Amino acid sequence: MNLPQSYFPYRKGYLHVEGTSVEELVRQYGTPLYVYSQSAIEAAYRELQKAFPENENLQICYAVKANSNLSLLRVLRDLGAGFDLVSGGELYRVAKAGGDSAKIVFSGVGKTREEIQEALHYQEGKGILSFQVESLHELMCLEAQATTAKKKASFCLRFNPGVEAETHPLITTGTETSKFGLTEKEILHWVKNNASKEYLHFLGVSVHIGSQIHQLKPFQKTFQKTQTLIQKLEAILKRPLEVVDVGGGIGIPYEKEKPLSLKSYAKEVSRYFGQRSPFRGRLKILLEPGRLLVGNAGVLVTQVLYEKRILKRRCLILDAGMNDLMRPALYEAIHAILPVHKRLGASEKTLVVGPVCESSDVFAKKAVLPKNLKEGDLVALLSAGAYGFSMANHYNSRRLPAEVLVHQDKAVLIRKRDRHEDLIRNEIL
Ligand code: LLP
Repeated sequence: MNLPQSYFPYRKGYLHVEGTSVEELVRQYGTPLYVYSQSAIEAAYRELQKAFPENENLQICYAVKANSNLSLLRVLRDLGAGFDLVSGGELYRVAKAGGDSAKIVFSGVGKTREEIQEALHYQEGKGILSFQVESLHELMCLEAQATTAKKKASFCLRFNPGVEAETHPLITTGTETSKFGLTEKEILHWVKNNASKEYLHFLGVSVHIGSQIHQLKPFQKTFQKTQTLIQKLEAILKRPLEVVDVGGGIGIPYEKEKPLSLKSYAKEVSRYFGQRSPFRGRLKILLEPGRLLVGNAGVLVTQVLYEKRILKRRCLILDAGMNDLMRPALYEAIHAILPVHKRLGASEKTLVVGPVCESSDVFAKKAVLPKNLKEGDLVALLSAGAYGFSMANHYNSRRLPAEVLVHQDKAVLIRKRDRHEDLIRNEIL
């Protein structure tokens, strides 16, 4: 498994990303700085691919929302990845990165008419592989847009299986009360009454129950229900379906969590939908991993600005804040913190905070950090490659950080740090 530290070794006491010194990068690009390891992304992609039997009819569609930097999209495209999008903005990025129209799916509960048109006309009118439709109202709209464009829209219906993902409630998406997807009853009803439409092509079923999942059980329950649904649909349609999209959601270790074995996950996918399933390999299986591919491939490097005592507890104030990495403030997520220059000697439980004027701008309540870590020293927040930069914002009029991609001993700036002008670029005075 792609452990947080594997591509981030200490050499002579200094943290590196692959063969590149973090301190060197900071000297050149400043802080806060996102640094990604290309080899870590490639290894995660290949590990997922290798977990499946070679003859499985599989397409990995990377969930762009996890990290949408163009250079990362390019790395993933070169590995053969397709893309799972949720907005016209993501489609625009994927087009810039050269994403293949035959490997793109478009999910999300609120696709606008304009976004649907953009996807129908993607890559000189080739369109995309599939719209993952989340409501019957959206499907009516898709049909109307496809009719106007005189283009056949291929689509899956997103199934809400009513399964608890056993993860943080804010990243659970497949329970009965969730806003995502359609119930089995709704899907069966629609298919019974709308078997054939001139501008719509019904491909199959998609499902996604949540994110950062470590247990196999919720996936098994979901796959079981999805398999039954596909069988019912094929019986109604009297034809085989073509696609099952099993979504993303595989968790990564942030601290000491035991991650899901990819082999056992793949075995379940194959058992329900693949060569060994009742469908005997005729369904194209789509996977939509986000976090798994990039989460442990990135760190956020930041500098200690100040130290203070709150009651008796030591508090370090960093130059990165919740606007740069929202996950701790939003989900109480833990990102391990490492000093960039390893220090010997005693450590101390430390409150680690950002500079943003919100009490929730806290990275760790009790990080065990060296006592002699002081002003000007650098620390790295680990496992920040997914939902780090992609959720960053300008709150407190803070400039978005720079991003660097490292491959062995080569480092490339893949996003410049915002300038002050960028903060007011679209404002009118
Ligand atoms: N497919 C769909 C339809 C999704 O909604 C998502 C994530 C994925 C795939 C990718 O899931 P992953 O493999 O990355 O778990 N901001 C939160 C995570 C939100 C996930 C939203 N949907 C976080 O920082 O934990």
